[in-house]
Amino acid sequence: MSQYPQWYYNEFKQTGVDYTNSEEIKAYDLHMQKLRDIESESKWLRENLKIKDTDLILEIGTGTGELALKLSVYCRKVVAIDVSKKMVDFAKMKAESQKKTNIHFCNAGFLTYENYGEPFDVIVTQLALHHLPDYWKMIALKRIYGMLKEGGKFYLRDVVFPSLVRNYDIYFDKIITDLKISAGDEIAEETEIHIREEFSTLDWIMEGLLKSAGFCIESVEYDGFMAGYICKK
Ligand SMILES: C[S@@+](CC[C@H](N)C(=O)[O-])C[C@H]1O[C@@H](n2cnc3c(N)ncnc32)[C@H](O)[C@@H]1O
Repeated sequence: MSQYPQWYYNEFKQTGVDYTNSEEIKAYDLHMQKLRDIESESKWLRENLKIKDTDLILEIGTGTGELALKLSVYCRKVVAIDVSKKMVDFAKMKAESQKKTNIHFCNAGFLTYENYGEPFDVIVTQLALHHLPDYWKMIALKRIYGMLKEGGKFYLRDVVFPSLVRNYDIYFDKIITDLKISAGDEIAEETEIHIREEFSTLDWIMEGLLKSAGFCIESVEYDGFMAGYICKK
């Protein structure tokens, strides 16, 4: 971070759940494989973002690399980045063990990754942008816009809070109680940390940020506190 001005946000400093902790990383990987069907997520993305086998894809906040591994089957190359070096090392090991040769991993993030090559056809980020406060989300989105080809697609999926909630105390208490039953104590605890310490924003703010960064929002899907946006440059 030394080449950045003093006021620049240090995205390498973890907020909320610590994804530089090896035990946390292994636990995260296991939970996600149990709770999510990443194969279906990648098929959905291929169809809805119209991913072609010649495409160059950037995934930001790749975590343990599951999505990058799956997307790499459908395209020419995936560049997968994350601010946690331990996450990147974990994902790299997985890719090597699966003999994947078209994924390039890099220890960088929304605010620091520099693309010196051709612009990307598709940029994807899931469950990562909420690590930045709103102003820095805007900078991240503008940087993403700048790295995309004209007509390129951007998919953002993240925790975004609905604005039409009468009582947020009741709303969040119910989320935690339901999660304890459906996903277990550990996930419920991580969600408490998320609400308390991370920077998930409200639906209307996220839509405003995307539009102000220059994107055309082609579709929005809200499912509880999860939101998915397909955007076009
Ligand atoms: C909840 S995990 C999500 C991982 C993966 N995308 C998934 O869907 O399972 C959040 C990831 O975002 C990374 N992250 C946090 N801040 C970031 C930033 N500013 N730029 C890139 N990645 C970031 C964390 O290190 C962590 O690996």
